[in-house]
Amino acid sequence: MADRVTLVEVAPRDGLQNEPVRLTAAEKIRLIEGLADAGLPVVEAGAFVSPKWVPQMAESGAVLQGLTRRPGVRYPVLTPNLKGYRAARAAGADEVAVFAAASETFSRRNINCSIAESLDRFAPVFAAARADGVPVRGYISCVLGCPYEGPVEPGAVADVAAALHDRGCAEISLGDTIGTGTPTATRTVLAAVTDRVPVTRLAAHFHDTYGQALANLLVALDAGVRIIDTAVTGLGGCPYARGAGGNVATEDVLFMLDGMGIATGVDRPRLLDVSAWLSARLDRPAASKAARALLARRGEQSMEDS
Ligand code: HMG
Ligand code: MG
Repeated sequence: MADRVTLVEVAPRDGLQNEPVRLTAAEKIRLIEGLADAGLPVVEAGAFVSPKWVPQMAESGAVLQGLTRRPGVRYPVLTPNLKGYRAARAAGADEVAVFAAASETFSRRNINCSIAESLDRFAPVFAAARADGVPVRGYISCVLGCPYEGPVEPGAVADVAAALHDRGCAEISLGDTIGTGTPTATRTVLAAVTDRVPVTRLAAHFHDTYGQALANLLVALDAGVRIIDTAVTGLGGCPYARGAGGNVATEDVLFMLDGMGIATGVDRPRLLDVSAWLSARLDRPAASKAARALLARRGEQSMEDS
């Protein structure tokens, strides 16, 4: 088993893109800086998408520009097309992500084009990024099920993964967008994808709608995946995947990995400070069981100490 895993914190993007509560740019910056200070090595900082489609990400330029970057931390942003890429670069982005899907219907609902058309739209992004020396992450949604089409063929996922890999994606994140995956299905899709793409290039991006994410992550770890996307408090969702639960929580994954002796570099007390702040700001408890339990324990201990 691994002795080190890279956590990619996606709450400031995936977590907030579907939130009814709108954080200001200053609050988003506070969130991102807090996560980086807690030791998260990669913090997804926003999305340069249409503000008509996803208004919650409208201030991504101001966020990137206002951010104090921690040395060594990466701050990727979503860029669905060249327009988004140019805006992201103008705001100082030095790592971007394109996002495709393994299901045609989801692709149309999410980015208004077919899978093949999406790859064409990404071509100028890849070309510009290559010229600028900017790494590109690639997401694939619906790898374990689609909200419109139901089950998704592992071969379809592998085709999109291979296409993104061939076009130069440094990393490919496999999204269980609606969280319907179970361990056996996770093993099957990973086997299909790793036939075509080296496992070292893969990340697991699991939403926890049905409480399967940790079990599925264990399968992914077993298959050799060493990059895991998480969101503090378990925040998350996609505006084009109704009923999708939040991302697997950073606190839950951290509790599991710490317990297994797998290093992440994340400082649990500092992460809990961010978790407590975000829950207070959103005016609801964390979706994460680990966050709630650890914060309750911390509260009890401070009462005992006083
Ligand atoms: P479109 O309507 O097909 O684009 O949208 P268009 O090129 O025809 O342009 C239409 C309008 O959008 C124009 O403005 C463009 O300027 C503008 P108008 O002339 O009407 O005023 N536009 C843009 N504005 C800002 N930034 C841009 C941009 N591009 C065009 N980059 C588009 C295509 C992709 C832009 C649109 O469908 C969109 O923004 N979709 C948002 C999708 C999204 O953000 N989804 C959530 C993230 S994906 C996700 O959550 C899944 C993931 O977490 C993994 C998982 O869990 O599975 C990653
Ligand atoms: Mg997601």
